[in-house]
Amino acid sequence: MRWGWISLLVIVLEVYLWAKAGNQSFVKPFRFHLYAFSVLGLYFASRYVWRRMRQLIRPLPLLAQYPLLAVLLVALSLATITIPLGQLIILTEPPLFLLLGSYLVGAVIFLGGALLGLHVTTFIMRRLMKRRDNNSKIDNGESKDASLRLQSLIALLIMLILCSVGDYNSHNIQIKYLAIPISGLPDNLNGTTIVHLSDIHMGPFIGRSRVESVVKKANALNGDIIVITGDLIDSSVENLWEAAKPLGELKTKLGVYYTTGNHDYYSGDVDSWIEKLPELHVTPLINERRCIQPLMKEGATTEGNGRDESCQNGFYLAGLEDIETRRIRYGHHSMDIHKALSGRTQKIPTVVLAHQPSAAAEAIHWKDVRLVLSGHTHAGQMLPLMLPIYLFNPYFAGLYQPMVGVYVYVSAGTHDYMLHYRHCKPDITLLTLVNV
Ligand SMILES: *[C@@H]1O[C@H](CO)[C@@H](O)[C@H](O)[C@H]1NC(C)=O
Ligand SMILES: *[C@@H]1O[C@H](CO)[C@@H](O)[C@H](O)[C@H]1NC(C)=O
Repeated sequence: MRWGWISLLVIVLEVYLWAKAGNQSFVKPFRFHLYAFSVLGLYFASRYVWRRMRQLIRPLPLLAQYPLLAVLLVALSLATITIPLGQLIILTEPPLFLLLGSYLVGAVIFLGGALLGLHVTTFIMRRLMKRRDNNSKIDNGESKDASLRLQSLIALLIMLILCSVGDYNSHNIQIKYLAIPISGLPDNLNGTTIVHLSDIHMGPFIGRSRVESVVKKANALNGDIIVITGDLIDSSVENLWEAAKPLGELKTKLGVYYTTGNHDYYSGDVDSWIEKLPELHVTPLINERRCIQPLMKEGATTEGNGRDESCQNGFYLAGLEDIETRRIRYGHHSMDIHKALSGRTQKIPTVVLAHQPSAAAEAIHWKDVRLVLSGHTHAGQMLPLMLPIYLFNPYFAGLYQPMVGVYVYVSAGTHDYMLHYRHCKPDITLLTLVNV
């Protein structure tokens, strides 16, 4: 009950902070809200797990019980504070205890969820059975205890499976190959390849070594262009510059392009990133487009604000700011599809980078847009999240053809956010544009 009141207080405080927050400063109340709720949620989940596990090991000799309880207590405490702790300690390479904490957060969620799910299912089944044969007495305390213990064992097994499959997938990035028919693609660009990276999520739990590994994989594909469709960073330039440096090693003929995702704004430092990324030869496309032409080198393809109609033997590559800027009003930022795509009077095929599938759903209605590349969904990332993410996004993961000759490709993301568990494979995709 006490905790119920504290949660309520948190909500009230949060609403107050949101209301008080001017434009730019939404980031702080947002983070406060996220961390307060993560701690509360994990506290409740941990308490439940603690009670159920204590009951499970009660029959063991005391000498075995105490060490188990001590380990459990430390693990649950670390899981509860890991998410806010991660915001205080952002290093080039995440420290071991934070990584361990992030694994534990996932384990608590899986175990708590499985325990609760089994408990509720059993409860309902008992009720139904009781109603069916009214006079038989099946519920004595002892059988209930045994049933709870059995449920706990099954839940532990489910947790182990979800953790090991999730961890395996998280570290096994799938390389996907796709050919996309682009009508009107100039002959000299037939076969142009784009390496699609998305949701790299550098931050408290993803450091330099994982960025390096992605860069190596991307370079091995030898693409003409590399694109990064948002959610690249989860903290400031100051904290993550060293971790980001390997991006400067990305190799292409026609450039590395980046557009923002919602997390890049949550980082609170998106303006500095946009300013600094060109030092790593990464070109941000902020509601603007570039003409991609075969013989031009990166940097020579600048088209300014995109009123240049001479992209005759090329195609346009446009980038939109994340669609969430409409809601969060972060400074002067706003997704401006008009600015990025209007004024293309000639019939020139256009590829759009838009972090969220809901932005892709808007972009496909603009003329000559042939392909939209998105990310954001992580293909659901983990089991309990898959359903809501599937329901709330117009495109979930993979290749879609919403209209004749128009394609949307949603990457499952190259990394994961916060927890290194995935129940679907992360990906890096090599798209080949072919003339039809
Ligand atoms: C923030 O809002 C105030 C008015 O409430 C306005 O004067 C100011 O220009 C805004 N700042 C930004 C960065 O949009
Ligand atoms: C483009 O290349 C593909 C094979 O890479 C080929 O099948 C196709 O005919 C080419 N298109 C044109 C118009 O040359």
